[in-house]
Amino acid sequence: MKTLIPLTTNYVSIVKIDAPKLFLDKLRDDFSNCQFKFNVQNYVSEDIQILKRHKELNASFSLACHNYVKNIFNIDCERIKITKSWFNKSEKGQFHHWHRHFSSIVSGVFFLEDNPDNLNLTFKVANQLNLFAEYNQTVTLSNFISDNLKDHLIMFPSSTYHSVSEIQSELPRKTLSFDTWFDGTVSKGQYGEIDFS
Ligand SMILES: [Fe+2]
Repeated sequence: MKTLIPLTTNYVSIVKIDAPKLFLDKLRDDFSNCQFKFNVQNYVSEDIQILKRHKELNASFSLACHNYVKNIFNIDCERIKITKSWFNKSEKGQFHHWHRHFSSIVSGVFFLEDNPDNLNLTFKVANQLNLFAEYNQTVTLSNFISDNLKDHLIMFPSSTYHSVSEIQSELPRKTLSFDTWFDGTVSKGQYGEIDFS
C-alpha cells in the first residue's frame, strides 16, 4: 500500500466585505489623501495605523480574521485585533517584492478597486524541507479566480511568503494591508489558557 497523508493546513481565505458604501468610499478617499513613500519596488503609506480612522471596517476585518483563526487553525480565542494597517500603491512596471509579516498571526489584503493585477498576488507553498529556495512551489490567485476582487479581503498566515508580479495595468494597484494579534483570552478554561488583554 502506498498512501500520502497531508500534514499541513495552510489556506488563503477570500471574503467579500459587505460594508456600507459610505465606509468603503471613506477608505478610498483616505487612500487618495494619504502620503506615500517608496518601499522596495512600490509605494507604502507613511501612516501604518490607517484603520484607527475606520472603526467599522476595522471591526469587520477583525471579525473576518477571528473566524479564520477559529476555523483554519482551530484556536479558541476571544478576539483578534488589528495591530498595524497601511496602504500600498503599485504603478505600472513596479512590483511588490517577496516578503512575509513578522509579529502577526494572520495578515490581510483588502482590494480597494477592481484591477486585473489584484489577481497576481502569489504565495509560496509551505515546504517543511525547505532546502532549496528555487524549488519552492507558488500559488497565484489567478490560478483559482478570475472575478473582480474589489472590496474583497484576502487572509493568509502572516509567516507565508507572498509577492505581486510586475504591474501590467495603466491603473495603479491600490490595497490596504494589515497585521493582527490575539486579544482577550485564548484557550479559556484549558491547559494552554493565556490572557492577551
Ligand atoms: Fe505583505
